[in-house]
Amino acid sequence: MKIVVAGGDGYIGWPLSLKLAKNYPNAKIIIIDNGLKRRLIEKQSTESITPILSLENRVKEANAEVSFKNLSFRDIDVSSEELAKFMALERPNIFYHLAQIPSAPYSMANVNGAVHTLVNNEVGNTRLAWAVRKYCPECHIIKLGSFGEYFADELDVAEGYFCPEYKGKKSTVPVPYPRRADDVYHITKINDSNILAMATSQWNLKVTEIMQATIFGIGTEETLLKESLYNRFDCDSNFGTVVNRFVAQAILKKELTIYGTGKQRTGLMYLRDAIESLVSLVDLDSKFGEHKIINHVSEKDFCINEIADVVINCANKYGIKIVAKHGDNPRSENVLEKKKYSIESSYAKSITPIETAITEMIQLADRYKDRISPEFVRVGKTWF
Ligand SMILES: NC(=O)c1ccc[n+]([C@@H]2O[C@H](COP(=O)([O-])OP(=O)(O)OC[C@H]3O[C@@H](n4cnc5c(N)ncnc54)[C@H](O)[C@@H]3O)[C@@H](O)[C@H]2O)c1
Repeated sequence: MKIVVAGGDGYIGWPLSLKLAKNYPNAKIIIIDNGLKRRLIEKQSTESITPILSLENRVKEANAEVSFKNLSFRDIDVSSEELAKFMALERPNIFYHLAQIPSAPYSMANVNGAVHTLVNNEVGNTRLAWAVRKYCPECHIIKLGSFGEYFADELDVAEGYFCPEYKGKKSTVPVPYPRRADDVYHITKINDSNILAMATSQWNLKVTEIMQATIFGIGTEETLLKESLYNRFDCDSNFGTVVNRFVAQAILKKELTIYGTGKQRTGLMYLRDAIESLVSLVDLDSKFGEHKIINHVSEKDFCINEIADVVINCANKYGIKIVAKHGDNPRSENVLEKKKYSIESSYAKSITPIETAITEMIQLADRYKDRISPEFVRVGKTWF
């Protein structure tokens, strides 16, 4: 079996690649990544709080352990013609597609960020669908989408497809649950979903799309094996997700900055739990011609204020006294109340209690507090 992890040098891709290598020792695990994330981070003068090696060296370090001898990497831009050549040569059985620019603020900062995100994400995804069709139509594409694609108001969120009702009539054909985005990054994710739906219905490909909730956490059992295998951990306003930023602010004993009212609701998933369940998709029994959707979320009920409270309580128990502060919201959101909706979600393999997860993060991040510059955790620029 050959498994490709595109974006395997990234925050989710690296721990995913290591766990795949360990759990499937007879498979060949190939990372493809063109180092774009590292260049973007360097350009904005921030860095991962955890020290990380170059992709080449971290793969060498992994290969030195008996569990990861089957891991290799290729420097390929997924949005270039090189992808098709690679697919023609390797014809993988499974292709995890994570090689995208994952930042709403970056995509909204200026026209260059918007165009870069559009081209990188959508061209890459489209080239992948065509390459699989042409060279390895048996390949299972597992694509990281985003929970932020959904229109989440008071309606319950279906897992993928549903039969809508309007003015007393009900559709007999399932259609995708409504999507809506207010930033270019999430618009690219929605367009990716459309391309993949087309690739299943028109070309009979096998696609599983993961509607991934915001991930938080630093490491997994495999990345924490030794410092040379550490995962990246960003806490800046472009690439740091909310819990990761709060933990970094807590370590610096700074107020946790809550954008706007803090009543915005968000789904969350601990990195270890997300990786566990992403790896198990190798054995998923899915069908050709089916655009399977998985709502990948374990914590469904938190608003930002509540997340801040959990971080404050965990930090308190660890001996760090901090408070939260409400500031201007760099996003244009009209949020008065915490929205109440339920989320259908049938696939999360394990769920770590959020307090345990955040305490683990605080303990590990504290070891690297000298690497966290207060500049990194400053509130981001307004987008509108
Ligand atoms: N982190 C989250 O909370 C989260 C939540 C929902 C969805 N996602 C999705 O998961 C995926 C991975 O996210 P992440 O947080 O690990 O991001 P990341 O930026 O850390 O990792 C993405 C990796 O892809 C690589 N890459 C980007 N464009 C590439 C290209 N054209 N060719 C080759 N490599 C390329 C980057 O260098 C990077 O190593 C993304 O699709 C993102 O939208 C992430």
